[in-house]
Order: sequence, then C-alpha cells, then structure tokens
Amino acid sequence: MSERFIPVAAPVLAGNEKAYVLDCIESSWISSCGKYVEKFERAFADYCGVGHAVSCSSGTAALHVALLALGVGTGDEVILPTLTFVATANAVTYCGARPRFVDIEPDTWTIDPALIEAKITARTKAILPVHLYGYVANMDAVTELAGRHNLFVVEDAAEAHGAEFRGRRVGSLSDVAAFSFYGNKIISSGEGGMVVTDSEELGRYAAQLRGQGMDLNQRYWFPIIGYNYRMPNLTAAVGLAQLELIDWHLNRRREIASWYRDILRDVPGIGWQSAKDGRKNVDWLFTIILDEPIRVSRDDVIARLSERGVETRPVFYPMHVLPPYREMGQEDGLFPVAERVARSGLSLPTWAGLQRKDVIYVCDALRECIGEGR
Ligand SMILES: Cc1ncc(COP(=O)(O)O)c(C=O)c1O
Repeated sequence: MSERFIPVAAPVLAGNEKAYVLDCIESSWISSCGKYVEKFERAFADYCGVGHAVSCSSGTAALHVALLALGVGTGDEVILPTLTFVATANAVTYCGARPRFVDIEPDTWTIDPALIEAKITARTKAILPVHLYGYVANMDAVTELAGRHNLFVVEDAAEAHGAEFRGRRVGSLSDVAAFSFYGNKIISSGEGGMVVTDSEELGRYAAQLRGQGMDLNQRYWFPIIGYNYRMPNLTAAVGLAQLELIDWHLNRRREIASWYRDILRDVPGIGWQSAKDGRKNVDWLFTIILDEPIRVSRDDVIARLSERGVETRPVFYPMHVLPPYREMGQEDGLFPVAERVARSGLSLPTWAGLQRKDVIYVCDALRECIGEGR
C-alpha cells in the first residue's frame, strides 16, 4: 500500500469561507434566513447572467424544484441522457413523471440530439440535458427541438459551473436550470444547490416550492404543498466565498486537465471527452476511457491505482441499467455509446489543490497499471 494518497476530489477553501462562517456564528444567523443566502443568490444569478437564483439544500432538491416549477407532474415524460448521476432521473420520478432515456454523443458524452425526437410523445413535457463532467450539451439542437415540439428545457448544470455555449453561461440557456455545490463540485458549499432562471414568475414559484409552499407575501399562508429545501446561511456563507474565487478554481482545474492531456496524449488506448465548436467547457473531473490495445479492465485499473494511493472513480452506471429504471429503459432502445463509456471510463483526481507533481505521479501510476512503462 502506498503512503501517498491523492483523493479524486476535495474542496479548497482558500478565500473568505472561514471569515464568513465565523460571522454567521458570531451573529447567530446560522439558519436559512440571513444575508449570505441573499448575497449568494444574487451573486450566482449575476454570474450565470440570469435574473433569479433560488438556493436549495442540494442539487437534487434544485432539480426537483426546477421541474415542479415548470408544472412537471404525474403522467408527464421528461427526456434525459442515460449517462448521468442518478439524481437527474430521480428528480423526474419525484414529480410523478417518467424519465425517457437517450444515448450520448461519442465525443462530448452529452445527450445526442439526433436521438431525441424519436423519444418525444404526446406526454413529453421537457428535455433535460446534462452538462456531463463540465462538457456542455448541444444547446442549439436541444433548444430547436424543444421549440418545434413546444417543450420546456431544463439544464442539469450540477457539474458545469462557468461553462459557456456561444458566449452564454450554462444556467442561462434554458427555461430553468439546476446546479449542485456538493463537496466535490467546481465550487462547493458542502451540500447545496441552486435553481436559476430568467423568468421572474418561475423564480418566485421555485422560491415558494423550496420554502414549504409558503406564500411569498403572506407569512404562514400555504396555498400549495412545498418542501423544506432551504439552504442555511452557514452553507451560503461558504458558497459565496467560493463563488468569489470561481475564476481561480476554474483556471486551476483547466491547468490540471491540460497537464493530463499533455502527458497522456501519446498513451495508446486512452481517450477523453472532446470539445465542439461554440462550447467553452469546464473541467469538473478529468475522465478517461480505456480502449484497445489496453487489456486491463477498468475495475482492475481502479484497484491498482488505489494500491498506489490514487483515488479514482468509475463513470456513472447508465440509468437504464439501474434496478428502478431498468424496465422503462428497455422500452427506450439501445444505448451503445453510454454503455461503452460507462464500462471503460474512470475519473482521475481533479481539484484545485493538485500540483503538477501529483498529476505526473497519477499518470506514471496509470501507465504502470495499464502495463506501459514497466
Ligand atoms: C449531474 C448531476 N446532477 C445532479 C446532482 C445532484 O446534486 P447533489 O448531490 O447536490 O444533490 C449531481 C451531483 O451530485 C450531478 O452530478
């Protein structure tokens, strides 16, 4: 076992996090009322280039609220890529709606727009693209399809803070979008999420749903059933401090991903997501796939790297193979691209505190594990 341990992800709290949290404690504003909640929401809406941001207790809660705000409910269908984190599909299910799965593009690993139309039915209410690992979905094609079929678009931007499509930030490219600030995300508040939208009506409705359904103008009047999905001031304090340094976090991650690409470029059999015109991706987790001539299985590579002190993680299982979604997935056809990426993909350590020597160590260990450089 190696003495060294390089985690796959870790937050770096290098700014005002401590000062703001102390301020919450000293002022006793630790719950979901407080200036940091408001400041974080305002600053995040401005960052995304939209009018409204509604903080939530998690990215999953934000997705749930985003869908509910659009009226997604029982009997509806929502189209999403099969390769995503389970929260994307679960949020649809929480609404009583049915997820319809679509395969991904082989290069960006985001929803393949060419396959969406075949999944649209009279029940379809929304398309829910996911900017996977920081790579932006083809929003031109998704928006065009949605417009033609009168559907809503919801972005799952949990993994893509700061990414852009044709000069506009993710979160501003759809009717409503959701972000996560879980500890491994580009910026983190520990746990947390944000709904963003340019629509005042949707923003107000999302805020009402997030706060037990309470009327925003009449305290303790509950015209609808909502949820307690509020973000505490303590959490928002961390989130705001992280957002203040988002450019630094993004640049550090960009640098780390470029080191990986440079070092691994010539290793036969290793591939990764690629950029497409008009998309400015961000580097959440640098994720590779192992292909011919590499003969070692992905899971063996993960185990061997772990022995060398390198934590990695497998790519998500596609939704259509998970027990709750297997049956409905079968009706949605075949997903060869997602299955290939899921089977052969792993994410390498990617977080703002990594140094070049760490990346070199990871790449050397990887070469050893796949049988090169011995
Ligand atoms: C694509 C995607 N959607 C949704 C979520 C849910 O976010 P959270 O963990 O904050 O609930 C995550 C992250 O965990 C994610 O990666």
